[in-house]
Amino acid sequence: MTTSPALPPQATLFAVAAPGLPPFTAAELRQLGLLHRRSKQHKRAVEAGGVTFLGDRAALYRANLHLRTASRILVRLGDFHAENFEQLRARAAVLGWDHFLAPGQAVDLRVTCHKSRLYHSGAVAERVAEAIGERLGKPPELRKSDDEEDEQAPQLVVVRLDHDRCTVSVDSSGALLHRRGYRLATAKAPLRETLAAGLLMAAGWPAGDALPPPLLDPFCGSGTIPIEAALMALNIAPGQRRRFAFMAWPDFDAALWQRLLDEAGEQAAARLEQLGGRLVIRGSDRDAGAIAAAQANAGRTGVGDAIAFACHAVSAIEPPAAAGFVVTNPPYGQRVRGGPDLRNLYAQLGNVLRDRCPGWQATLLSSDARLLAQTGLALDTSISFVNGGIKVLAGRGAVPGA
Ligand SMILES: C[S@@+](CC[C@H](N)C(=O)[O-])C[C@H]1O[C@@H](n2cnc3c(N)ncnc32)[C@H](O)[C@@H]1O
Repeated sequence: MTTSPALPPQATLFAVAAPGLPPFTAAELRQLGLLHRRSKQHKRAVEAGGVTFLGDRAALYRANLHLRTASRILVRLGDFHAENFEQLRARAAVLGWDHFLAPGQAVDLRVTCHKSRLYHSGAVAERVAEAIGERLGKPPELRKSDDEEDEQAPQLVVVRLDHDRCTVSVDSSGALLHRRGYRLATAKAPLRETLAAGLLMAAGWPAGDALPPPLLDPFCGSGTIPIEAALMALNIAPGQRRRFAFMAWPDFDAALWQRLLDEAGEQAAARLEQLGGRLVIRGSDRDAGAIAAAQANAGRTGVGDAIAFACHAVSAIEPPAAAGFVVTNPPYGQRVRGGPDLRNLYAQLGNVLRDRCPGWQATLLSSDARLLAQTGLALDTSISFVNGGIKVLAGRGAVPGA
């Protein structure tokens, strides 16, 4: 077995992100100093499925630790022409598998073929498995991971054939990154943490300000939006408590990881001191079970002290005097059965906001533009995401006086 050099200083990395989220992932990467606006690479970095960036092992670890909107981070291992099985096997066998896999390790090979002479994904997977075995001296155990949240999942390898061009990528994240490791208790129709973070960014809530304006979620369910807001404002790295696939790689640098964790911990401690308990984040919901779940989740995340949860209907909200941001995900039919009067609920929400939150910024996530229109607020719906397979709009606008 020959050993290739460790992850090159300029490895090609890809942050996979759900529809609508890649521009926010790119902004996060820029803030981390991992993507440079002026670089040639930047122009074509942001694609529908995610963001390409270059980096070394530290960049890879930092992306996993800090990104709030990405689903997983892939490392591009190879990119070559393959129009027959001999070429595929020979070219795949010289890739640096030894950095990512131990001999015989379980692998989930996900293959897609598009407009290529090699079109049979099962046969492609077989040849790539043979190539891995050739490189490592022992064939991998091929195992499918049906559960994307499985913490003991086999190492995921993604192979794409497109017009006879074969790209091979190794997943560095393992369980999807929305799994921050805090949400055990859920209420009805919870948002993914990655989408909640993206929604807060779309809302323009300035989480990094010396003192961010108040944030209110009057339909908070299991608390995903307030919890992500608290993590952002307190500068707490979302990945600090979880395991990642790269920790099982033969070349895992535990000292480097610990250094990055320590740095992140110091930044969060400094931010906590700067805010000094002045942060205002409130979540409410009329469902007592949801509020209990939200409190338990916030406690597990370590942000319980930063959020005030209360059990009451939207009609009973009492916002703080200083103008702030309402960022929320009201029921919208397909995900939560709201009965025939969802339109009334949205109209009521509009009235409550005009009455009690004049001058605030509102961002409402809903699948239905007609429901959003019921609020009577002038909302910009140019940003959309996908939630649970449904297209959802982020309706954003200022709240006028009553
Ligand atoms: C789509 S869910 C919110 C999910 C939440 N973002 C999460 O991640 O768990 C909508 C929530 O609105 C709540 N709700 C429905 N009608 C309400 C009302 N009139 N006042 C307050 N909450 C209400 C439901 O109990 C439900 O938890």
